[in-house]
Amino acid sequence: MDKKITIAIDGFSSTGKSTLAKQLAAALGYVYVDTGAMYRAVTYFALQNGYIDAAFFDKETLIRSLPFINLQFQFNPDLGFGEMYLNGTNVEQEIRSLRVSNFVSKIAEISEVRAKLVEQQKEMGKDKAIVMDGRDIGTVVFPDAELKIFMTASAQTRAQRRFDELQQKGDAVSYKEVLQNVEERDYIDTHRDDSPLVKAENAIEIDNSHLSREEQFDKVLALVNRIQ
Ligand code: DC
Repeated sequence: MDKKITIAIDGFSSTGKSTLAKQLAAALGYVYVDTGAMYRAVTYFALQNGYIDAAFFDKETLIRSLPFINLQFQFNPDLGFGEMYLNGTNVEQEIRSLRVSNFVSKIAEISEVRAKLVEQQKEMGKDKAIVMDGRDIGTVVFPDAELKIFMTASAQTRAQRRFDELQQKGDAVSYKEVLQNVEERDYIDTHRDDSPLVKAENAIEIDNSHLSREEQFDKVLALVNRIQ
């Protein structure tokens, strides 16, 4: 039987990490975990409770509330992946809004938030056979992962992808706003003190600006087969 491995996928926002991770998990029969959804759910919690808005951030109250934030993925067989539940409520739709995207990097900077989520992520991966995507998976969550992928694409390509997605959902946003959000998040994600986004030393970099989903998937599956 094939050896069960851990696959860590990191990279900038909207580089198609989750598309690749879902394809791999389905092909290998592995669990897929979108760690961005966890940071987004904490952000949604902070917004709903009025702990953060454009002019204000009550970080201390958010930190004190962390024990009362329960995050669970519940597998949806129709979708083929686990949807995010915050304190028992499905928030999969809410956490994908531009409003949440605009605040999530601020929340992801907080060490106490990271410590809580990383602990839960490590636990989810203890039996391997997992594909996890995020920003610090190959560096912090699973430094011993057998396969680490670091995904990049130009900011313009990524903003166009995210803009198309949001338009399809009927979100009234401009391309300019989306590009600005992508660039801001790149900056904050790579410059924060705790677990900044960096390519792990032994990660394989994939620039998918000019790769189709299928080409990218075939490339990574070949890497997996070489390890197993
Ligand atoms: O992958 P995403 O765009 O849904 O992630 C949302 C934000 O969460 C992203 O701007 C950075 C943060 N994040 C993080 O800091 N660490 C992770 N492992 C995953 C996401």
